[in-house]
Amino acid sequence: MKIFLDTADIEEIRTAARWGILDGVTTNPTLYAKVGGSYDDVVKEICGITSGPVSAEVIADDVEGMLAEGRHFAKLAPNIVVKVAMSENGLEAISRFAEEGIKTNCTLVFSTNQGLLAAKAGASLISPFVGRLDDINQDGMTIIRELAEIFSIYDIDSEVLAASIRNPLHVTQAALAGAHIATVPFKVLQQMVHHPLTDKGIVQFKKDWESARAAAAARSATKS
Ligand code: E4P
Repeated sequence: MKIFLDTADIEEIRTAARWGILDGVTTNPTLYAKVGGSYDDVVKEICGITSGPVSAEVIADDVEGMLAEGRHFAKLAPNIVVKVAMSENGLEAISRFAEEGIKTNCTLVFSTNQGLLAAKAGASLISPFVGRLDDINQDGMTIIRELAEIFSIYDIDSEVLAASIRNPLHVTQAALAGAHIATVPFKVLQQMVHHPLTDKGIVQFKKDWESARAAAAARSATKS
């Protein structure tokens, strides 16, 4: 399963890239609002850090507006994926982008049928929001599992991108459910790296190493 970072924070993206685990990035207006500046500049800088897909989200509600914004984003870098919210106009825009060879990520997907329609319209990435479904007492992971199975049965090329990931368990569950991608906040990525026994073990090994070196140095000093 590919791992995308769900952030517009450049330092977080640089860090994940250095760790060698970054396959792409998703942004949205809320994540962009946290960093500010020019959205174009932020997105271009991200595309300079990763060669993987970088989602830039359109805001317009009408098809022509979505197309204008998306075509503009697509010119910013070759790895841009235009993010379009699920709606009747969104499906039309996705279909038009597909005809133009512009890749899209259908966002705000909350049902398997929405995901199926987005895939049929030609979206490359389908983003069910796992955490937001869990928040309203619905099992978000069911959508991931059903879409992964449907895409496999019908040999559909679209990839299932587990979004709105809130904790490390979501990442494991998304992988087991057959998600092609999980997009994770940096905090969740850090939580995935750490385990209390790993961190404790590192401290203990360092301590024992230093004791052994000190004992060896003392022995050699006694001999000479
Ligand atoms: C990513 O593409 C989505 O916009 C993001 O995962 C939404 O996450 P949230 O539900 O935590 O805002």
